[in-house]
Amino acid sequence: MMSGGNVRVQLRVLMVVIGMMMMVVGRVTSQNYEDALTKSILFFEGQRSGRLPPSQRMTWRKDSALNDGTESNVDLVGGYYDAGDNVKFNFPMAFTTTLLAWSVLEFGQFMGSDLQYALDAIRWGTDYFLKATSIPGTVFAIVGDPYGDHSCWQRPEDMDTPRTSYAVTTTNPGSEVSAEMAAALAASSMVFQAYDAQYSLTLLNRAAMVFDFADMYRGSYNDVFGALVCPYYYCDGSGYADELIWAAAWLYKATNNQSYWDYVLKHINSLPQYIKRMDTDGMPVSGGSFAEFGWDSKHAGINILVSKLVIDRQLNPSPFVFNADKFACSILPESPTKSVTYSPGGLLFKPGSCNMQHVTALSFLLLVYSRYSNDAQRGIQCDNFVVPPSRLVQVAQSQVRLKLSNQWIYVLL
Ligand SMILES: *[C@@H]1O[C@H](CO)[C@@H](O)[C@H](O)[C@H]1NC(C)=O
Repeated sequence: MMSGGNVRVQLRVLMVVIGMMMMVVGRVTSQNYEDALTKSILFFEGQRSGRLPPSQRMTWRKDSALNDGTESNVDLVGGYYDAGDNVKFNFPMAFTTTLLAWSVLEFGQFMGSDLQYALDAIRWGTDYFLKATSIPGTVFAIVGDPYGDHSCWQRPEDMDTPRTSYAVTTTNPGSEVSAEMAAALAASSMVFQAYDAQYSLTLLNRAAMVFDFADMYRGSYNDVFGALVCPYYYCDGSGYADELIWAAAWLYKATNNQSYWDYVLKHINSLPQYIKRMDTDGMPVSGGSFAEFGWDSKHAGINILVSKLVIDRQLNPSPFVFNADKFACSILPESPTKSVTYSPGGLLFKPGSCNMQHVTALSFLLLVYSRYSNDAQRGIQCDNFVVPPSRLVQVAQSQVRLKLSNQWIYVLL
């Protein structure tokens, strides 16, 4: 019953990525891609918590949750609500922000007048994360009461459910939520380098600090928050090692500081080969971790992100490129090592949670990997055949087209 918010936030998280994809394939095109991009980014304004700025376009939304954090003597006003709920879950919110930033880094140049709105959407997240990490040794992870909120259908402007804030600390650590926030801050710092150098530096310094905290005080927030996150909502099923490596990889990309690269190398081989996720009925689904990417597991994202770094910085590509290829081969319809299925209409299906989050996150990675492979002038090695990078774009595009057609609504319902 509670996975509803979870499902819906995935749509929110990833709708925008769809929008980004459309810009890449937009040449084929149509107005539809542009319109979908605009609406995907506009959607984030509907999810805003806090004091809304004059630039707010979705004007039926008003200020809300202006006292968030006061119980803990900290300002936690802002950030995003979790889909249809009024809770702020900082773990998936941070992943959303990391992906928004990655999308802008890759595709911002194609976004036209929507670029400014995408930057605003990122900043709405990072301004809040700066507040959530303003006390050294403390990272705020949740604001609101997941159960009370979920049973109460109120708009955030009127809500009267508790706005308790929950933090992880040095004695009750939560490495996944902290490291994902570090990743979001580091990725966003790269986005703002060209627009606001001072802000970019603030984000980067905070990212380094929060990463140190996440690594030094290791533990899962599952153990700290119990039923507030598990088994529904945002239970971390894949462990926190992937977020730590993911954050280190983003910090390495942002700083070129060798110590982050050493960290990635030191830990990459200890990531589990198989991980468990929950399916929609709360049953565990087990899969090869190289093929996983979403708010919970970052594995495939790590390999693809790093596949570009090893090329640009002339580093040993093992095991990143090998695993990034394996990921791509797990998706391609014609691949002998395919581990997803396709509906008769051609929509990708992968068990576990909301299917559209897989469709969108995996399609995004295919597009990004296609670009990186093109830059490296190499094909993707699947068993005994080689796939040209353009094939990855084709597959991603086939998914985006389905999403823009009416049919995908039925898939969701
Ligand atoms: C690299 O990062 C480490 C860890 O944060 C830090 O101690 C070190 O000073 C940094 N090195 C440089 C050259 O900035």
